Amino acid sequence: MKITHLRHVAIIMDGNGRWAQARGLARVAGHHRGAETVRRVVTHCREAGLHYLTLYAFSTENWARPTFEVNELMELLAEFLVEQEDRLKEHGIELAAIGDLGRLPNRARSLLERVMKTTSGLDGMRLTLALSYSGRDEIVRAARRLARRAAEGTLDPDAIDDRLFGGSLDTGDTPPVDLVIRTGSERRLSNFLLWQAAYAELYFTDRAWPDFGPEDFDRAVAWYHSRKRTFGLVEAVG
Ligand code: IPE
Ligand code: IPE
Ligand code: MG
Repeated sequence: MKITHLRHVAIIMDGNGRWAQARGLARVAGHHRGAETVRRVVTHCREAGLHYLTLYAFSTENWARPTFEVNELMELLAEFLVEQEDRLKEHGIELAAIGDLGRLPNRARSLLERVMKTTSGLDGMRLTLALSYSGRDEIVRAARRLARRAAEGTLDPDAIDDRLFGGSLDTGDTPPVDLVIRTGSERRLSNFLLWQAAYAELYFTDRAWPDFGPEDFDRAVAWYHSRKRTFGLVEAVG
């Protein structure tokens, strides 16, 4: 797979519930299978030489799902962190997280903090999990932080520009998203990386996340390479 000129891929991992229901299973069975897909896709991306992979795992809106489903998703997150810590280290993958992490249950949050700390600085690939995340919420929290500094007199409002604002988001120094992949047949962003995906190429597939595999990822990348990215200019850039 040719990965040049493709630094950052972000995936909206959708369709777990419908995948399970179509097989007469409970929705959470789809989440379990979806967690296996995460492991497969992360390994594939690392082997392909991708630098930044961001996965939409849980939105701020998802908190309003039935308690049982929310608890199960948080349990799966904790399980993933426990069993993947060593693998991430072995493969040189740095774990990061974006979102309103204070809302996560204590156990998941402390595991997350631990794995982020023990993988910090690894430079094979950065895997960012979007957890309790919404693009609008992220933008509002960044605006609030900057407003606070301005009110304290430590920031000149005129110094706020695209770069400073972008750097104040949860994604910090992560480069902009080049390619967004959404599985599960919906064609929308559902509040994902609204700022960072401003010029991303958008790839939608009907494949449900539990069935998504390395070949599907490669197909999305091949499609990406067939696009002409003009960034408002008249000819392709890069
Ligand atoms: C994506 O699958 C996983 C999360 C949102 C946590 P869904 O649970 O949204 O599955 P569908 O879209 O209902 O099939
Ligand atoms: C988006 O999927 C969030 C995640 C994949 C975590 P949803 O299933 O929650 O979004 P909608 O309801 O299709 O917009
Ligand atoms: Mg969904």
